[in-house]
Amino acid sequence: MSKGKVVDLFCGAGGASLGFVQAGYEVVGAVDAYERALNTYQKNLCQRSLDEYSGSVSFDAPLQADLSRGYEDNDVDNELPTVTFEDIREEFDLEKGDIDVICGCPPCQNFSGLRDTDPWPSGKPKDNLLRAYVEFIEEEIPDVVFFENVSNIMNAGEEVPTDYIDWLVRRMATMTRSEDTLDNGGYGYELDVVNAANYGVPQKRNRTIGMFVYGAEDSDIELPEPTHAESPGDDEDLRKWTTVRDTIRRDDLKEDLDLGQKQVGIDGYPDDPAHRAHRHQDSTVKMIRAIRRHGGSWRDLRGTEDENLIKECHQNLNSGASSAYGIMNWDEPAPTMTTRCTNVSSGRFTHPSEDRGITFREAALLMDFPIWYELPSTNQDAERVVGNAVPPTLVKRTINGTEGVKIR
Ligand SMILES: C[S@@+](CC[C@H](N)C(=O)[O-])C[C@H]1O[C@@H](n2cnc3c(N)ncnc32)[C@H](O)[C@@H]1O
Repeated sequence: MSKGKVVDLFCGAGGASLGFVQAGYEVVGAVDAYERALNTYQKNLCQRSLDEYSGSVSFDAPLQADLSRGYEDNDVDNELPTVTFEDIREEFDLEKGDIDVICGCPPCQNFSGLRDTDPWPSGKPKDNLLRAYVEFIEEEIPDVVFFENVSNIMNAGEEVPTDYIDWLVRRMATMTRSEDTLDNGGYGYELDVVNAANYGVPQKRNRTIGMFVYGAEDSDIELPEPTHAESPGDDEDLRKWTTVRDTIRRDDLKEDLDLGQKQVGIDGYPDDPAHRAHRHQDSTVKMIRAIRRHGGSWRDLRGTEDENLIKECHQNLNSGASSAYGIMNWDEPAPTMTTRCTNVSSGRFTHPSEDRGITFREAALLMDFPIWYELPSTNQDAERVVGNAVPPTLVKRTINGTEGVKIR
């Protein structure tokens, strides 16, 4: 029996939805604006058997729509229809009250560190998509709301929650079904920044996870304890972090791919077009080899006979960009996968032992997608859907924190 029915807003290619399926929930609706991500979602979660998991997806295709509710959102095609939650219910043949959980990872451009520069009036939501998200919840008021976002929204460098989170929590606390009052309604919550590596994901990824339960006391909701640690010591409940080696060194993945080669028609390996290596310039390959000899970063080339291999844009740089062209460590979780996560100039995304960036398949595995997950065929779309995703295991392990919470 399913643990509950979930609607996934801002579903992307389905990382969070897959986590719910793995945790035993039935995903009954999903919406996003980005067509290639939705195609990926449909191929993997709607058209493929998910019998290996205890949960399911019960619709034929996710809905493509603009979730901004008409508030300004520069990232979305203006031609797309905007929808209300009533439209979403209609699309997926749901009645009000059918839905147990709304999952939502509204994108967070305002809080991606670099862009958080404009002050905004206290008490007002800074982000239009967060405001839209809260209004969707208000139309349904399900038992549970699951929220994922970048870590900066919790404490943009400080120990106190930002106004953005203050606003969200206040709105959720006063949201009440028509039959209830503030005494028995409103959402209790737990919000925290967690490192996905501490929940078994082979990636250091700090994210804000929020769990809101209708009619519950804040003190009754707890994020589940980490399952993994860098050094578990004698703690028998903890396992050691999952590493890059545990994840991408596998018999069905060819390691020594030539640049530009993909794993199709290679003897002894199943076809996998997502396991394809970028082409790099000769100068980039030389630099990667030199970095391997001298340390893990282009900075380690300074003062060596290979100093001339440092890219021109880094020659006079004294701070920042230190992870560019960096080499991944076999024996640690991967660094945070971004929407440029196969591009060696964009971070520590060079394969631990091969002179190439990681492939799209390797990136998806490090984001904890199963090996069978089909990815978009174009490079840009493939890394975008992977870098944007919520690692399924992180959802599977944290959503447990809402199970059995007493509702007043
Ligand atoms: C952080 S990603 C979500 C990832 C997804 N939950 C997963 O686990 O794979 C945010 C998503 O919001 C979508 N998005 C951005 N603006 C949107 C809008 N106005 N309407 C609908 N979707 C939007 C993007 O296309 C992107 O897929």
